[in-house]
Amino acid sequence: MTQRRSITALAAALLLQALSSSSGFTPTTIIGSSRSAAKRTISTPHQQKLYSQQNPNNDDNDNNIEINRRSFTTASAAAALSSLLVTSSNVPFLPVAPAMAAYEESKKKQRILITGSNSGIGLDAAQRLALRGHEVVLACRTLNKATIAADTIKTNIANDSEDALEAISTIKNIKLIPMECDLADLKSIDKFVNDLKKANGDGASFDAVCYNAGLARNTEASDVLRTAQNFELTIGTNHLGHFYLNNLMTPLINKDTGRIVVTASSVHDPDSPGGAQGKTATLGDLKGLEDAVASGTGKFDMVDGGSFNADKAYKDSKLCNVLFTRELQRRLDESGSNIKVNSFTPGLIVSTGLFRDQNPVFTKLFDVAATNLLKVGETPHYGGGALEYMTLSNKVGEKGGEYYFSAPGSSKYGDAAFGKQFDVSEVSKEALAADSGKGKRFWELSEKLVGL
Ligand SMILES: NC(=O)c1ccc[n+]([C@@H]2O[C@H](COP(=O)([O-])OP(=O)(O)OC[C@H]3O[C@@H](n4cnc5c(N)ncnc54)[C@H](OP(=O)(O)O)[C@@H]3O)[C@@H](O)[C@H]2O)c1
Repeated sequence: MTQRRSITALAAALLLQALSSSSGFTPTTIIGSSRSAAKRTISTPHQQKLYSQQNPNNDDNDNNIEINRRSFTTASAAAALSSLLVTSSNVPFLPVAPAMAAYEESKKKQRILITGSNSGIGLDAAQRLALRGHEVVLACRTLNKATIAADTIKTNIANDSEDALEAISTIKNIKLIPMECDLADLKSIDKFVNDLKKANGDGASFDAVCYNAGLARNTEASDVLRTAQNFELTIGTNHLGHFYLNNLMTPLINKDTGRIVVTASSVHDPDSPGGAQGKTATLGDLKGLEDAVASGTGKFDMVDGGSFNADKAYKDSKLCNVLFTRELQRRLDESGSNIKVNSFTPGLIVSTGLFRDQNPVFTKLFDVAATNLLKVGETPHYGGGALEYMTLSNKVGEKGGEYYFSAPGSSKYGDAAFGKQFDVSEVSKEALAADSGKGKRFWELSEKLVGL
């Protein structure tokens, strides 16, 4: 094992050198070791039959490894590539494979909202959850994208089925509600929640709300793009859009059993391999937000008041996600609500649409290197499974304010990773320190910026 790790690390280092010297990329990702052959998630009876034919001796022996994020990182001699070097995906990835999960979950049919569910892990999770019989509101940037997402899921079901009648019945019964919610425009968020209430009545109650949408600009970008309300686009969408949406959604979430899931990333942490490269995440003393509030314009380039750096803005936005999770849980507890909010990282997933703005040539190279050669990348289906697990698992719902993680390359365990390799982990030092005051100020400034 040790020898294999060293070879992997060496290969990673060589590749990194080759990539970064020729591309000028800021390298920011994670290389780990490979353990066992991949296992895939099984769903429909057809897939289950196929899988057991192909894997007669399948066992789960490799699934009980405890992971501590930082110790794993050291032990695996992790090398860095770039988490922002990922391919654009115009074709939605969607194997029809809802988890036959080993973890315990509520049997109740739930109503679940997912932002950014027309692509990547959000789309995969929506399909998984809908196939389990839950109602899923697909909250997407445009209604058209949300409608296409619902159609894609139905097409996948049809394509996967050997039995036309079974497929028709499944498609007829799944509950997908396509809706428009542009997180880069507070007015669109207002309209979205009003439409939700109109459609379901003010008593509409959600069992789970997943703040999953996110964007990363080209790491080299130097122009500051802005949301409709003048916020820098990355923070404005990934944090402030969700922050505002959460304010409107919280009264609609079941106070006794509800939960909130936030898709963050390990790049929020400068002590993680992905987060250590280039300019690292920090919100500093929040000067950018303080000034934006004081000026009354809402205009900031970076949260810490520094000059714009697109790579750091993405990392900062993921740190905002973690801070938001912890501060929100504190506030929910204080208010007597039993809602639990947790964040997670799905791992490095090269083939989602997240890095569509990066250099396509190096993105493709990186995809091949991370996924096929070094086996440290995850599949979108694994990321979707992680979001599904965060949404449904009873264990996750017991405690809030946590951050979940799995070691690079955990896709190979399939859904058996959830609750085992994929489990609670540490947050960054800054996120931890923010619990004693900065989280509160961060919340207050966010409120002022979105006009609450
Ligand atoms: N892929 C990875 O390696 C990785 C690693 C760690 C964390 N994550 C996180 O995982 C989450 C999902 O990303 P992904 O990898 O699945 O990438 P993705 O395929 O690009 O999905 C991102 C989703 O966010 C949506 N979105 C972006 N801006 C929006 C806006 N203004 N309003 C509404 N929706 C918006 C996108 O919609 P459009 O299609 O309309 O743009 C898309 O549906 C993100 O929060 C990301 O930070 C990903």
